Amino acid sequence: MSSTPENRQKVTVPAIVRRKATGERISMITAYDATFARLVDEAGVDMILVGDSVGMVVQGVDNTLPVGLEEMAYHVELVARTRPRALVVGDLPFGSYQVSPQQAVESSIVLMKRGAECVKLEGGTHMAETIDAIARIDIPVMGHIGLTPQSVHRMGGHKVQGRQAGYEAGGRDRLLEDAVAVERAGAFALVIEGVPRDLAKEITAKVSIPTIGIGAGPDCDGQVLVLHDVLGLSPTRYKFAKSFIDLRQQIIDATAAYVTEVQSGAWPDDAHSFH
Ligand code: KIV
Repeated sequence: MSSTPENRQKVTVPAIVRRKATGERISMITAYDATFARLVDEAGVDMILVGDSVGMVVQGVDNTLPVGLEEMAYHVELVARTRPRALVVGDLPFGSYQVSPQQAVESSIVLMKRGAECVKLEGGTHMAETIDAIARIDIPVMGHIGLTPQSVHRMGGHKVQGRQAGYEAGGRDRLLEDAVAVERAGAFALVIEGVPRDLAKEITAKVSIPTIGIGAGPDCDGQVLVLHDVLGLSPTRYKFAKSFIDLRQQIIDATAAYVTEVQSGAWPDDAHSFH
């Protein structure tokens, strides 16, 4: 049966896990509110990531560090309220899970109560115990390794990781170790961000959970992009991202047309007036 918006099944965590075996590629995109959640869901995306990138693309801050747990919970709620077919992934923000596994469990519960269907957190070997603690109470966890934006200061910027061999943070061997640790700890999927494509390919072959790449080349089991990049709304164009439409210019043009008509008196006309 062809997959139409009407007959598409709800996407679940086990369904995402099965894709590793079936080889059907997984699509994930960010959304932070009900309007865009409805649109991307209608478009057929598999997972909606309510990402802490909300800080940069919605709140206007320079990196993800200022984003708080209650802010993430609010955006998760806006997306979950639309009851999408796509799986809703709630991103744990900086400071909401690094203190202890118990803090991570409590923060995950907050996001799940507001409508997340799983949580995502950044980090590899050092986060294994934390991932295990969350997964043990049946909250599905998505890992995230490579260019982890919450480590922006350790990395000295949003820089590609894994270019050099070695077991230090950001080293190629360490990232392979991180991926295995995240899988062993019980994560059901793994985001790989900002690494050379051959490394992402090697990790994808090594782990038995689906990998979701961003700036990690075509060999991952799925892909994720930030919605505002896909729509061409971001002022910056990144090498790893693709604008599938230039909505930024279209919005500027449409708003400018509105301003012109208001100024000239052409809007509103009689047809749009009450009598
Ligand atoms: O917050 C986010 O949008 C993310 C993606 C870049 C994976 O974590």
